[in-house]
Amino acid sequence: MKIFEEIESEVQSYARTFPRVFHRAKGEFLYDEEGHEYLDFLAGAGTLNYGHNNPAFKRKLIAYIEEDGISHGLDLHTRAKAEFLDTFNEKILKPRGLEFVMQFTGPTGTNAVEAALKLARNITGRENIISFTNGFHGVSLGSLATTGNSHHRGAAGVSLNGSSRMPYDGYLGDEVDTTAYLDKVLSDSSSGVDLPAAVVVETVQGEGGINAASFEWLRNLEAVCRKHDVLLIVDDIQAGCGRTGAYFSFEEAGISPDIVTMSKSLSGYGLPFAVVLIKPGLDQWKPGEHNGTFRGNNMAFVTATAAINEYWSDDSFAQQVQAKGRYISKRLEAIVEKYGEGNFTTRGRGMFQGINCVNGEIAGKITRKAFQKGLMIETSGADNHVVKFLCPLTISDENLKRGIDIVEQAVAETCAAQGSIPEEVDYFEEDYSVSDDDKFSKAV
Ligand SMILES: Cc1ncc(COP(=O)(O)O)c(C=O)c1O
Repeated sequence: MKIFEEIESEVQSYARTFPRVFHRAKGEFLYDEEGHEYLDFLAGAGTLNYGHNNPAFKRKLIAYIEEDGISHGLDLHTRAKAEFLDTFNEKILKPRGLEFVMQFTGPTGTNAVEAALKLARNITGRENIISFTNGFHGVSLGSLATTGNSHHRGAAGVSLNGSSRMPYDGYLGDEVDTTAYLDKVLSDSSSGVDLPAAVVVETVQGEGGINAASFEWLRNLEAVCRKHDVLLIVDDIQAGCGRTGAYFSFEEAGISPDIVTMSKSLSGYGLPFAVVLIKPGLDQWKPGEHNGTFRGNNMAFVTATAAINEYWSDDSFAQQVQAKGRYISKRLEAIVEKYGEGNFTTRGRGMFQGINCVNGEIAGKITRKAFQKGLMIETSGADNHVVKFLCPLTISDENLKRGIDIVEQAVAETCAAQGSIPEEVDYFEEDYSVSDDDKFSKAV
């Protein structure tokens, strides 16, 4: 560990939570230098939806490298890019009745968000962007202005302009539809909120604490955008690529965003890759206006194409994710009920769920105990108070159960240490084995 202390910057974060030297990874497991195995409920913060070193993509990538395929090509036309565009269009967009053109940006999520915001501003000639409380869209200046978290905002060192914050779904309690407030301020020329170019929203806020917007709220948000001629940007960087149980997280709500940002699991292999999907009439870029040396990572094209062919040629994978999501819900609800003393709650949707422990110290204790037991799981939310379940979507039923069992044990021990339940409780008295009619590995 010495070399990291000596010459790696203090900015490290995950490395502090999981202080090991990792060496190898496969499927839902990571291994450290000593060969210890860790079950991965972190999944590269949503980048490894298909697990580590997925064999189906690895073979294609190795073959591509062996045949001296283009690895870097700026935004040149390449065969790998053509195959990705064709596969994405045929297997993702067309079956969902979606029409988008694709912009390849620099390979990080924040770069895709920067491009989306710029484009919306250029199209409308307006500056303001509406974003939401607890939203996270990246840490470069433009996207950071739309990010809520004060820890990240505080690092900017300059004022973060061009964005107004509105309350996200549930921010003012379950009874309040916050889109009505948005409609009100946009209708009132004295509200002090400038008519925005766009609204940028996550359908489930990942970093902000696994807050899932209701489908009704998302539909109302779209209606407000249409009413005021404001563009709707869905940031699907973390919630997309199947995480919520559909390829796009907005599908089930039945909304039609103007612009969609994607990254993280898009390449399927942890390779950096980001895109902006733009409704054809809105593609008003001039050549090279938003460029970048690493636009279009050709190795990522290869693995992204393989991921779509492997998992998205029909809806069986989505059904498996939904079934696993139901299992996660059932388990987390039981944990909250058993140990939460009315304080803990569950949150999220599909395989993007969390336990809100209200208190960051408790959530931190739970994740630290889980790590001691061989499970990597992180916290999220303003006070790091939500234990965030983000395992690979491809995880086996057995390992999904095993990971949640570890969390349950960590919750039980933490709550016992807090004095809220007796030490002798048999934490595993209930059997969560899956019955045949609720087999979560099968399409249900
Ligand atoms: C919803 C969302 N948008 C944007 C980003 C920024 O992506 P990146 O860290 O690749 O810049 C993230 C990262 O967690 C995210 O979750």
